[in-house]
Amino acid sequence: MPLVARLPAMKPAHIAIVMDGNGRWATNRFLPRVAGHRQGVESLRRCVQACTDRGIAVLTVFAFSSENWNRPADEVSGLMGLMASALASEVAALQRNGVRIHFVGDLSPLSPRLRNGLVEAEQATADNHRLVLNVCFNYGGRWDITQAAAQLAARGEPLTETALTQAMALGHVPDPDLIVRTGGEQRLSNFLLWQAAYAELYFSDKLWPEFDEAELDRALLAYSQRERRFGLTTAQVQRAA
Ligand code: IPE
Ligand code: IPE
Ligand code: MG
Repeated sequence: MPLVARLPAMKPAHIAIVMDGNGRWATNRFLPRVAGHRQGVESLRRCVQACTDRGIAVLTVFAFSSENWNRPADEVSGLMGLMASALASEVAALQRNGVRIHFVGDLSPLSPRLRNGLVEAEQATADNHRLVLNVCFNYGGRWDITQAAAQLAARGEPLTETALTQAMALGHVPDPDLIVRTGGEQRLSNFLLWQAAYAELYFSDKLWPEFDEAELDRALLAYSQRERRFGLTTAQVQRAA
C-alpha cells in the first residue's frame, strides 16, 4: 500500500525543495555533471506530478542559485541550455496537468531569448489552478530581501513586515510549510531566508535524481508528525486545535 494512503489530514499547502545532488549522481556514474542535471529535470517532472496527485497547492523549487554562476562555464551554459530545452518540452504537460508556472529570481542577466521563453511559459499557464510551481532561477534569499526593501524605498513606503513580505519574489504565495533538501547537506544555501521563518525542515540523503514518490511521502509523513508551535506552548496549540 502506498504510504500516502496512511497520511493524516495535516498536509503542507506549500512545499519548497532544494534539489541538490545532481552533480554527485552523475559523478558516481562516471558521467559529466550536466547529465545529472538532465536527470534532475526528469525527477522534477515526477515530483510535480506527485505533488499534483497529492493535492499540494504550491511547489517551489531551487533550480539555480545566485552563487551557481561561479561554477565552471560549461556547467553554467549546460544548465542554461537545459532550462531552454525543458521549457520547450514540458509546457504542454504543465498545461494538461493544470500547473501554473512562475519564475522567481533576478532574470535580468539571462539571455533575452531564454527570458522570453520563461515569460511565454508563465503566460501560457496563467489560467491553471491545480498547482502553482515556482521555479527559483538565479535566486538568492539575500537578493530577495534586498530587492523587496529597495522596491519599498523607491516607492517611499514605510518598511513593515507585511509590506516587505508582499514585495518579496514569493509575495504571491503563503510561506512554505515544509522545506525539503535532498543530497544529504543540512543547510539552506541562501534559499528562502525570509520565508523559511517557521517552515518545517526535512533533509533527505537521496540525491535529487533519485528523489521519488516514496521519498516525498516520507517527507510528508515526517511533516504530519511535527507539532508546529509558532512560539506557543504545546498546551496552547492543543487547545486551539
Ligand atoms: C543541484 O545539484 C543543482 C544545482 C545546483 C544547479 P548540484 O549540481 O549542486 O549537485 P552536487 O551537490 O554537486 O552533487
Ligand atoms: C543549492 O545547492 C542551489 C540549488 C540546488 C539550485 P548548491 O549545491 O549550490 O549549494 P551548496 O554550494 O552545496 O551550499
Ligand atoms: Mg550541490
